[in-house]
Amino acid sequence: MRRKPVELLVAEGGQGQGGSLRRSLGMWQLTMISIGATLGTGIFVVLGEAVPKAGPAVVISFVIAGITALFSALSYAELAGTIPVSGSSYSYAYATLGELVAWVCGWCLILEYGVSVAAVAVGWGQYLNELLDGTIGVTIPAALANPPGDGGVFNLPALLVVLLCMAFLLGGARESARVNTIMVGVKIVALLLFCAVAFTGIRAGNYRPFMPLGIGGVSAAGATLFFSYIGFDAASTAGEEAKNPKRDLPRAIMLSLLIVTALYVLVAAIAVGAMPWKGFQGSEAALAGIMKDVTGQSFWAVLLAAGAVVAIASVVLTVLYGQTRILFAMSRDGLVPKVFSRVHAPTGVPRTNTVVVSLFCGVLAAAIPLGQLADATSIGTLFAFGLVNVAVIVLRRTRPDMHRTFRVPLAPVFPAIGFLLCVYMMGSLSLVTWLVFGGWMIVGLVFYFGYGMRRSRLGREDLPAREAPQAPAEK
Ligand code: ALA
Repeated sequence: MRRKPVELLVAEGGQGQGGSLRRSLGMWQLTMISIGATLGTGIFVVLGEAVPKAGPAVVISFVIAGITALFSALSYAELAGTIPVSGSSYSYAYATLGELVAWVCGWCLILEYGVSVAAVAVGWGQYLNELLDGTIGVTIPAALANPPGDGGVFNLPALLVVLLCMAFLLGGARESARVNTIMVGVKIVALLLFCAVAFTGIRAGNYRPFMPLGIGGVSAAGATLFFSYIGFDAASTAGEEAKNPKRDLPRAIMLSLLIVTALYVLVAAIAVGAMPWKGFQGSEAALAGIMKDVTGQSFWAVLLAAGAVVAIASVVLTVLYGQTRILFAMSRDGLVPKVFSRVHAPTGVPRTNTVVVSLFCGVLAAAIPLGQLADATSIGTLFAFGLVNVAVIVLRRTRPDMHRTFRVPLAPVFPAIGFLLCVYMMGSLSLVTWLVFGGWMIVGLVFYFGYGMRRSRLGREDLPAREAPQAPAEK
């Protein structure tokens, strides 16, 4: 139950083994990191799975998932502005709910970030094939585009995109953020282009019946689509590399969520108007298919596929970035091996961490069939978001005195609603997803009791003496 004092968390910001992270990111780049991490497979690929569940009412499913994200985003904004460190919700939990809960939270973040990189990289491969087919008429053979158990031997494109992003990340946070900003621009243009073209294909009849499978279908699709909102919190993992984190992180989180929600609702409303909802069944590249049907020309579909390839690559880049920074914070606390907080001084990048995480995610994507993974990612994320809502309530009680650059309105009511919405969404996920999640948690707890608990810096009380006096007594 030991808790890490907020002042200590903040005082340690940026410090790694052998060097420090660099503060180089402004509000614009932070917003782009969050949009980069959010806008991707959900709208380009998962939409095709959600429409058969909800019908045209998938638009409402997007709003439901967006509202769930919004309440948690408010809580993230408050804590990111108060405790601006790389560990994101893991660190917020450490300050408020204690080390064990923090560990559980960090372990869930590995589902949200590390495992989702793998799931997203697989979606990238599907769009790459679409693009190759449309441009040079060649597709990557199934054996090299799927993992064993899914009709292949190895998913090469998934591994390649992760390695490409690793190369960018090794160049530095500012350089990666620049590349990401360009990629985000491309994906927003691609989606707006889709809207402009597909709008001309809207048929009023496609909206009827609006809710063919009832409210249950809408809710189930909402839980699936929650995946498309994962990532708005990515800016919070850049807390130790932001120039003015207390001011910029809350703004970046809220702004990115608003932009992404508006785009999702617009794209979904147009997509279900342009294609009968049953046509989405089994469609892995639904938006590209719609472009082709509406215009009768494959050129537009190819253009959209190119946009998706760039879009999804930027999710891989930013989510991979987030995962490395979360592990950086956990390692500094001693809960995972020290190698993850070693910094390459000339670039300010946790280099070994970046290579290890990228290889892990790349091989996971390439060699393991990831069928249930999008939902497993969502459940882990919902758990972490739920904890962030609780952390806001706890910190308001234990440290009411702290300066907060952003405050959740109507606390504790809004964080409590945020928490309940997360629980509700988790309840909408399938039994298989819960079993995967349960197995994941058991592995995490074994790791904590076997390693983290004994290695914890806070537990061993070897904190630098100069920092200890700054820490206030815990209440
Ligand atoms: N929200 C991210 C995506 O949709 C994970 O790709």
